[in-house]
Amino acid sequence: MKSLRLLLFMFCMTVLSTVHAEDKIMFLSSNHVLYRLDTKNYRYLFLPVEDRAEMSNVKVLANNNQVKAINVRLASEYTDYYVPLDLSEFAGHELLLDIHINGNLRNEGAIKEWACWKQIKYSNTFDIANREKFRPEYHHTPAYGWMNDPNGMFYKDGTWHLYFQHNPYGSLWENMTWGHSSSKDLVHWKYEGDAIEPDALGTIFSGSAVVDKKNTAGFGKDAIVAMYTSAGESQTQSLAFSTDNGKTFIKYAANPVITSNVPDFRDPHMFWNDDINKWNLILAAGQEMNIYTSDNLKDWKFESSFGHGYGNHSGVWECPDLMKLKVRDTNKEKWMLICNINPGGPFGGSATQYFVGNFDGHKFTCESAPDVTKWMDYGKDHYAAVTFDNAPDGRHVALAWMNNWQYAAQTPTMQYRSGNSVPRDLDLFEYEGQTYCGVIPSKELFDQRGKKLSKLSNACELVLNLKGSSSVTLSNDNGEKVVFNYDEGKRTFSMDRTKSGKVDFSEAFPVTTTAPVYGKLKQLRIFIDNSSIEVLDAEGKMAMTNLVFPTTPYNKIVKKGKVKYIIYKM
Ligand code: FRU
Repeated sequence: MKSLRLLLFMFCMTVLSTVHAEDKIMFLSSNHVLYRLDTKNYRYLFLPVEDRAEMSNVKVLANNNQVKAINVRLASEYTDYYVPLDLSEFAGHELLLDIHINGNLRNEGAIKEWACWKQIKYSNTFDIANREKFRPEYHHTPAYGWMNDPNGMFYKDGTWHLYFQHNPYGSLWENMTWGHSSSKDLVHWKYEGDAIEPDALGTIFSGSAVVDKKNTAGFGKDAIVAMYTSAGESQTQSLAFSTDNGKTFIKYAANPVITSNVPDFRDPHMFWNDDINKWNLILAAGQEMNIYTSDNLKDWKFESSFGHGYGNHSGVWECPDLMKLKVRDTNKEKWMLICNINPGGPFGGSATQYFVGNFDGHKFTCESAPDVTKWMDYGKDHYAAVTFDNAPDGRHVALAWMNNWQYAAQTPTMQYRSGNSVPRDLDLFEYEGQTYCGVIPSKELFDQRGKKLSKLSNACELVLNLKGSSSVTLSNDNGEKVVFNYDEGKRTFSMDRTKSGKVDFSEAFPVTTTAPVYGKLKQLRIFIDNSSIEVLDAEGKMAMTNLVFPTTPYNKIVKKGKVKYIIYKM
């Protein structure tokens, strides 16, 4: 009874805390509306969004000057969800929305009937509590809205910072902004708000951030310096810096700092190179990666480009990274160049390829033959993988975007869209004359292990100890299943998600992915989290990341062959 009263109270509070807008709406034509905001007392204006509606271009005018421009699918028939427009930054100004609605010609009256005008409302709070069963529990996801690539990741003073391609005004790709989350343990993430917003040079595409320990840029000792792609009429590279540990950024006044006439010219990744005592930068330029040097992070000298004729070229080269890594069980160190590519992945769409070789600070030389392609992960949902700057103990910790451009806009979630992979530490290992990337589940994941479970749960780690070929099937009460198959003779591991649950939102989704196995698999660590399965070899010699959307969690395991398992709650 008590709890019922509490519920009723909470319900009333929620209703009272949002008010319907009594603003002045001026319908000026079949596609143009001026909307005068009436109240100054609320923090947020909630814009009603319908994902199928035509796009509206909304300019926010404060005292007659444009202070923001966003693209929102304002609801025409039905509100799928709300997105918050934060009014606090414009306090004390007269606010007017200048709205241009795109799409088919409609008669002048029609626009008045749109659902959004009746459903727009004010509030002082924005509820980001999870409302969706597919949202992962121990993976980073955006508090709300669309997310793609991880950006500008760095570690400083015990905190891991993750920025990400964010749409704060919808759950589809648009309005690219750097969202920000932080974590003490790479597992629990706190949303910190949006850090870098679009400006007159363009929206904010992917990039990197470094800790400028020697104040080489003059923004301050230990300033965080970020470089991102300004995606305007052309793609150019811009700087922003932060002197409050990445919470807020100031854009460098003389942006852009790198330009080119190559159309796909983006995703700069900077790092300090001790070997030459300079900064390096690698960015994607068409089907190649350009390499630059700098002393001050502002002036960059083009050095060389890599890629012509090497590896897979069936798509656009994007989101590079370049790092020196130890080769396991040897005294050797080699360089690895990461090249995310879309499309062209081994099972269609997006994937992460890499090249191993040498780098003298000016030029990268690949040690394998040009026709060798190496993939970091053999699932379908591992993209835009890059590493953190300044990670402790010389670690190279990577996160990927767990999705694929083939169907990222169709996955069955709405409050948020897409998560990141679990953190993985990268190194190199040798096998039959080649050097490969080792992908090891980061040690922080051990600390996350909870009690042992006798049954599978929606968020758990399933550890498989294998002795030879075997197969393991996970299934649920609705007959949906995922099948893993390890063939020791053929040296392959596969995962079949064709009957894994909801698969019909895209023809490209129901597939079996297969990975080569370099040696024998002994222990697999399988991270299951509501809508993702990451199969990682404990020794880092095989990685497979796949989304799944079971209508109810998998709760049964059937195994064949010599295999034992342990389940930990996560
Ligand atoms: C990769 C990518 C990047 C670009 C960003 C835009 O997924 O296409 O190349 O910077 O997404 O959101």
